[in-house]
Amino acid sequence: MLIDGLAWLLAGFSVTLAVPVSRISKDETVRVINECNPLVIGHRGASGYVPEHTLGSYALAITLGTDYVEPDLVMTKDGHLIARHDNELGLTTDVSEHTEFASRHKNKTVDGKEIEGWFTEDCTLEEIKTLRAVERIPGIRPGNARLNGAFTVPTFQEIINLVKSLQVSQSRTIGIYPEIKHSTHFKNLGLPMERAVVDILHKNDYQSHESPIYIQSFEITNLKELKEITNLRLLQLYESDFSMQPYDQVVAGTGYTYGDMSTPQGLKEVAKYAYAVGPDKTAIIPRDSNNRLGVTTNFVHDAHAAGLKVHPYTFRAENTFLPAEFRSSTNEDDVGDLSSEIRAYLNAGIDGLFSDQPDIPVRVRKICK
Ligand SMILES: *[C@@H]1O[C@H](CO)[C@@H](O)[C@H](O)[C@H]1NC(C)=O
Repeated sequence: MLIDGLAWLLAGFSVTLAVPVSRISKDETVRVINECNPLVIGHRGASGYVPEHTLGSYALAITLGTDYVEPDLVMTKDGHLIARHDNELGLTTDVSEHTEFASRHKNKTVDGKEIEGWFTEDCTLEEIKTLRAVERIPGIRPGNARLNGAFTVPTFQEIINLVKSLQVSQSRTIGIYPEIKHSTHFKNLGLPMERAVVDILHKNDYQSHESPIYIQSFEITNLKELKEITNLRLLQLYESDFSMQPYDQVVAGTGYTYGDMSTPQGLKEVAKYAYAVGPDKTAIIPRDSNNRLGVTTNFVHDAHAAGLKVHPYTFRAENTFLPAEFRSSTNEDDVGDLSSEIRAYLNAGIDGLFSDQPDIPVRVRKICK
């Protein structure tokens, strides 16, 4: 029998599952959110250290001091929300080794792209629970690959349960930062996610604008729909390529691009429904022709002028992801100087950031009570 990965990871920490969550007061929630600058969002958990979107990854992120954990959400055939970056399961699970899933292997068009694999919408939760998570980028993160098979695919509710129990043992509020993936795709399959995400959060006592929650999406239509059905904070994500359009805009034929959404006027439109924006970090400080950090753009200034917080993605410690001046060697998987990259972005005025190694921004930031 496989040793349960989460039990292994938590063995060294005192997890007090029996203490009621209500011991965390509302005041405390507000204090943590207002005084941490920048907000640290554990990207897919602590995916620099543990295979992404597993309870082990989220638990480690929390142990390392992250303010928020970030589950990407997709849906199963029977309408359960689970955490995966993609609705295709082959990249981050051992599904290819399960012969009983062979009939589910197919080619599909997802958000206009042809993809071959096994898809969450073709499998029940019970079936997906027989799979084990594996590392997405084992070449860059060989250490993580040693944990292949240690964890299952978690449901959104299991993540909420983990967060609620760990915030009690840590005596601090820990937020959840879910992303709705492929909204239009799942809507077209009769599996809309927006109401389901809101229902789970409301049911778990996350109801107000001050609750430690952000719901994020690369699409626009669903964020506007969410604005109508919840007071929870919403974040508009931007693709790094500003010539691209949110997929709901492609379908609607508006021609409206991420570039249009990043002008001073476009940001004012976003501010009508969103609390914050999540651009790729290069929208704030692009790389120059030598792949070093270039000249800071007006993005943060314009977003702040529109009343929006700015939480760029994704800060990663391995050389391959860093600007040239912060690399430690020519090995792409060696760890470089992520702290210095983060400091440059703090100087650019960001309010939060997504990091695969959340311990590093937690150490770099100065302002947090
Ligand atoms: C998907 O399409 C590719 C290219 O046409 C083909 O080689 C492959 O066999 C297809 N896979 C499945 C599962 O149908």
